[in-house]
Amino acid sequence: MAAEESCAPAAQKTVLVGVTGCIAAYKSCEIVRLLQKAGVRVKVVMTEHATEFVGPTTFRALTHETVAVGLFDDPSDPIHHVSLAQEADVFLIAPCTANVIAKIANGLADDLLTTTALACTSPLVIAPAMNVNMYENPATRYNIGKLHIRGARIVEAGDGYLACGDVGRGRLAEPADIVAAVLEELGVSRDLAGRRVLVTAGPTVEPIDPVRYISNHSSGKTGYAIARAAARRGADVTLVSGPTALATPEGVRTVHVKTARDMLAAAEEAYPAADVAVFSAAVADMRPKEAAARKLKKGAPGTDLGTIELVENPDILATLGAAKRVGQVVVGFAAETENVVANARKKLATKHADLIVGNVVGEGRAFGTDDNEVWLVSADDVEEFPLMSKERLADEILDRAVQFFG
Ligand code: PMT
Repeated sequence: MAAEESCAPAAQKTVLVGVTGCIAAYKSCEIVRLLQKAGVRVKVVMTEHATEFVGPTTFRALTHETVAVGLFDDPSDPIHHVSLAQEADVFLIAPCTANVIAKIANGLADDLLTTTALACTSPLVIAPAMNVNMYENPATRYNIGKLHIRGARIVEAGDGYLACGDVGRGRLAEPADIVAAVLEELGVSRDLAGRRVLVTAGPTVEPIDPVRYISNHSSGKTGYAIARAAARRGADVTLVSGPTALATPEGVRTVHVKTARDMLAAAEEAYPAADVAVFSAAVADMRPKEAAARKLKKGAPGTDLGTIELVENPDILATLGAAKRVGQVVVGFAAETENVVANARKKLATKHADLIVGNVVGEGRAFGTDDNEVWLVSADDVEEFPLMSKERLADEILDRAVQFFG
């Protein structure tokens, strides 16, 4: 099987992560990765003291974005704090020291991070981390209370051994809990947390000889959007993708395949553990019976370029749909040039799917576009959706799929 695993960044909402001078600053790296895994674009702003614990280069490498520290570091942007504040859909400060909590609570703005906090009108999430006595000091409690009253979301520190040797409250909350709070502020649903999702996407490519092949016009946009949406909603996602020009989604286990038989093998591996399986790939229904080892030449003895013997490919959805276990949700597609709903109904039954996404293909529709118009067909319902982005469609499909969990 021609398969490999890879990842690349995806971007949607922007979270500005503020890192302050605390031993827990290294945990900000994990927070950044988790946010990216949820499909969020991350920018980082640091205090000078934070750079004593983790270098800006680390965050630059993780985020592929510039990392701001000083108020006047960027000569092209003299009001950097305002532009950073405006870019943020949520401003998360993690870890946040007692000093920075005190400054923000009292409106002090003497560096880039605190100035940005003052200029930011988006939700503020604060995850404190410090020594237990500092954390329990009435001054700190009062400052945290002030921020809470002003609408900031506080992800309180946990109990345990602290870096200073003391035991008590002051440890930075778990990165996953901090990220969950941020995603809640962003309004991102996590209804697929703890679930496994398998998605097939893109075309398959069936070789005729080393240079020619049978394939179709699928770009993979639909399947990739579904994989990204499932990951953002908390699922552990395996994307089995035919050849596409798309970047592999962040935080999604991506298996690259070429032929229908490769795709079946990769899907068979992930399918038993999947809670939801979405078969959006445009699998070539047939392949040349034998792929020639050398380029077929016009006029070569024994070569008839006018005839290629074809055989039927396995039907991945029908094969795996027939093996569906209780509790598994199977979503298939129907790409039709006519009678979409009737054909989708037939495929629902013959391929053992719970839901079929019917769409019209040809004449510039569905294949390669950014939008699509579909019918969602289940055993007892048909829903017609107007033209919408494939990103939004992905969420609509997943919304219906989770309903099968009851
Ligand atoms: O990738 P994009 O450019 O975004 O385009 C999106 C799309 C048009 C590819 C997508 O919306 C779509 O319709 N995907 C299914 C394409 C297709 O092969 O449809 P079908 O009606 O031929 O097949 C029905 C179902 O059986 C599909 O779920 C398909 O994945 C599956 N199938 C088909 C043949 C086969 N040998 N194995 C399969 O698993």
